[in-house]
Amino acid sequence: MPEAIYSEKFRIVGNDYEHGGEVATYVKKVLKEFGLTADVVRRLSIANFEAEMNVVMYARAAEFDLEVFLDSVRIVIADEGPGIPDIDLAMQEGYSTATAEMRQRGFGAGLGLPNIKRNTDELQISSVPGKGTTLRYAVFFNR
Ligand SMILES: Nc1ncnc2c1ncn2[C@@H]1O[C@H](COP(=O)(O)OP(=O)(O)O)[C@@H](O)[C@H]1O
Ligand SMILES: [Mg+2]
Repeated sequence: MPEAIYSEKFRIVGNDYEHGGEVATYVKKVLKEFGLTADVVRRLSIANFEAEMNVVMYARAAEFDLEVFLDSVRIVIADEGPGIPDIDLAMQEGYSTATAEMRQRGFGAGLGLPNIKRNTDELQISSVPGKGTTLRYAVFFNR
């Protein structure tokens, strides 16, 4: 793969609802500055927000890696957490293990992972029970 023209790393902290969503908001600003189309920015921002909030809700912490290429944006989010025991089940619309408290905050519709899938051109999820989960996704353009 060619080298990224831009890359930046962020930390996401589990249970930190106060700052939850800030990485997605910042990355949206960066992507706009690169002149990417509104549609590409929108699709990535939806995916980034859903993935970030999943770390806040379900994991201890994560590293969020942004890489911008001439033809794509690639995101890798590697968390330390419980992992996802059944990824096919977690991908189903409406499936959620959100607690009552999370639901009170407006989360837990079970649409986050399906929305990431719908808004990206490539998605890979790998997970090790008791260790954590890694999401990799990409959106392509100029094709
Ligand atoms: N990073 C993660 N670590 C552990 N479990 C996760 C993670 N992301 C998602 N999950 C699991 O997958 C389920 C579905 O996620 P999602 O589609 O985003 O819906 P929601 O966040 O509304 O529950 C979650 O309820 C949770 O059980
Ligand atoms: Mg979610």
